[in-house]
Amino acid sequence: MTHLSPLRTPAAAAFDPRVVKRDFPIFARHPGLVFLDSGASAQKPAVVIDGVAEFYRSDYANIHRGVYRLSARSTELYEAARERARRFLNARDAAEIVFVRGATEAINLVANSWGATFLAPGDEVVITELEHHANIVPWQLLRDRVGFTLKVAPVDATGGLDLAAFEALLGPRTKLVAVTHLANATGALLPVEAIVRLAHAKGAKVLIDGCQAAPRMPVDVRALGCDFYTFSGHKTYGPTGIGVLYARKAILDAMPPWQGGGDMILNVTFEQTTFQDPPARFEAGTPDISGAIGLAVALDYIDGLGREAILAHEAALTAYGVDRLSRLPGVHIVGAGQQRYAILSLNVDGIHPHDLATILDQHHIAVRAGHHCAQPLVDKLGLGATTRASFGVYNDESDIDALADAIVAAQKMFKR
Ligand code: ALA
Repeated sequence: MTHLSPLRTPAAAAFDPRVVKRDFPIFARHPGLVFLDSGASAQKPAVVIDGVAEFYRSDYANIHRGVYRLSARSTELYEAARERARRFLNARDAAEIVFVRGATEAINLVANSWGATFLAPGDEVVITELEHHANIVPWQLLRDRVGFTLKVAPVDATGGLDLAAFEALLGPRTKLVAVTHLANATGALLPVEAIVRLAHAKGAKVLIDGCQAAPRMPVDVRALGCDFYTFSGHKTYGPTGIGVLYARKAILDAMPPWQGGGDMILNVTFEQTTFQDPPARFEAGTPDISGAIGLAVALDYIDGLGREAILAHEAALTAYGVDRLSRLPGVHIVGAGQQRYAILSLNVDGIHPHDLATILDQHHIAVRAGHHCAQPLVDKLGLGATTRASFGVYNDESDIDALADAIVAAQKMFKR
């Protein structure tokens, strides 16, 4: 069975999104809110909010530094969060989990540590046209310093990755392939298993940006065989300011620090410093302790619902959304290739996406409009901007119906 096959035959979701919605206090504070912007950031369940507050109330102290019991307790919770993230990704070893500020920081870490050490002029890094800025700009910045070539695999006519064109870009000089798992602007699901296989056959390392995938589907880094995988806490129903970089241990061990400071050192003199082993080597300074602990609660919450169930739920919503919205005259859903998941990018004839999003807000519908931090893709599609609806565990078909009705209302306004 391939990694993509569950989407073709989604099972019934094992939870009721109307019940799940009650776990999220924001919906009680904003009755009638139709939140369709989880792709930008997911709402937080009460267990996460309360978990962070409880940590500050009961267990807070700096970690890895104090000999007193409260610091030991805080350290224990932080390291338990690392173990939780390991289990979430099915990594082999908790030492393969580095806490970072988010996926953006993770990719910058890989670029500035691994990339700056192991890439040389003449080497090639391959990304795709489906990337968001976090997986484009760090490589451009590094390319300008190091002098390697950055190659971009194109989308095909349907908006999915052109796998044959991707394969044709790979060669003996390819040192890294850095791809999104699920494209944030269009919801295109990439064939990451095939990508890993093709890249490894050329001896290249593979980084997968799992920002949009991690909250929505099972991720098993060992089964994928990728070298790096990253996701952000705030999109996985956790706090902002925390994220995870997974890297295979042998790779992390060979990587030099990228930020210096406390907690990443073994010994410091004014002449020379020696460094901790990973992951501490990459966590300079006081980290986002409460963020890591809140993230662990969020990952428990996700796995409590079940990632297969979330996958089935959002696949069903996606199918419903495509069907419902594509029946509306003048509404065009931006192509996402063979498998689209949880994200619908729209264009409505005669209404600019920003105007549409503003009108939708008047109907209490929250969507994102613009280039979604994926400007090259949206430009390539010849659009400049789209209106994007993205789903979470608290959405149901009524949210899509509300969106469809509000689009029709907007169309009437613009016809006047
Ligand atoms: N990358 C985030 C998004 O897709 C912010 O909206």
